Amino acid sequence: MDRIPITEFKRWKVERQKFICLTAYDAPTARILESSQVPVILVGDSLGNVVLGYRDTTPVTMTEMLHHARAVRRGAPDTFVVGDMPFGSYQVSGETAVQNAIRFVAEAGMDAVKVEGASDRLETVRKIIAAGVPVMGHLGLTPQSVTQLGGFRVQATEVESAQQLVSDAKSLEAAGAFSIVLECVPEEVAQIVTDCVSIPTIGIGAGRRCDAQVLVFHDLIGISSGYSPRFVRAYASVEQEMLSAVKRFSEEVREGQFPGDGESFHLPAEKIKEVRRRVDRLIVDNDSDQGAQ
Ligand code: KIV
Repeated sequence: MDRIPITEFKRWKVERQKFICLTAYDAPTARILESSQVPVILVGDSLGNVVLGYRDTTPVTMTEMLHHARAVRRGAPDTFVVGDMPFGSYQVSGETAVQNAIRFVAEAGMDAVKVEGASDRLETVRKIIAAGVPVMGHLGLTPQSVTQLGGFRVQATEVESAQQLVSDAKSLEAAGAFSIVLECVPEEVAQIVTDCVSIPTIGIGAGRRCDAQVLVFHDLIGISSGYSPRFVRAYASVEQEMLSAVKRFSEEVREGQFPGDGESFHLPAEKIKEVRRRVDRLIVDNDSDQGAQ
C-alpha cells in the first residue's frame, strides 16, 4: 500500500470511513504496522513514558524524537507518519516551532506533525502549515500540560469547557489542521466536536463517535508501564509472553537444554583432533619453559 495522500483524511470524513492510528517508536514496530496496513502511524511523545522510562512526556527532546522518528520511517517507508512536537519545541516562538516542524520533515521524513492545544497555539499552527508542514491538532487531555490541567482526568466535563473544546476544534480546523486528536473527553462532547468539523476527529478515551481511534501500541499489545487508563483495551498479552520466554530461557540454560545441537556450530573430528594435539603441545612447552626458570 502506498503512503496515503493528505486529501484522504477529508474523503474518509465525508464517506464516514473509520480508520485507526497507532503509535510506534522503532523500526520493527513500524514494519509490523505497515504490514498490517495501518494507515497512520504516530511517533508520539509518549515515547518518554512508554519507552524511555521518564515519568511523563515533558523531558522528551527534539533529538530523541528525531532519533525515533527516523527509525519509524525506516521501518515503514510507505506509511503516513506523524511526528509529535515535544514539550518546548513549539511553545517559545513561532520561528522555533516552524524550524522544529521542518526538522521532522527534512531530517526524519515525517509527513506531518502533531501539536497540543489551540488558543495560544493557533498562530503557531498557521505558521507551521504556511511553511508546508501539515498539522494534526490535539485537544482535551493534553499530556504536556497535565500539571496545569490538574492531573490525568477527563476534560470538557462542564458546559463552558465543552463549549470551549468545540470552539478550539473549529479554530484548529480554520487554521488548517488536517485532523484533531481528542483525548479523554466525554463521548457526547466528542460527538458534538465530530459533527461540527469537516476534518476527522481521532479519539483516545473519547468514546465511540469519533471518526478514528488512536491507541498507544504498547497498550494495545499488553505491555504496560504500570498504570493502564480505563479507555485502553489490550488485544494481546505480550508482556506475559515476554516474561515467560525469559523464564524458559533461563531454565533451559540452567538445565543444559539450551543451546541444543542444532543451535551449535561444529568442526570435523580430524580438525578437533589437530587442535587438541597443538593445545596439548603448547601446555607441555609452557610447563617445560616454567621448569627451566
Ligand atoms: O504521544 C502520544 O502517544 C499521543 C497519543 C496518545 C495521541 O499523543
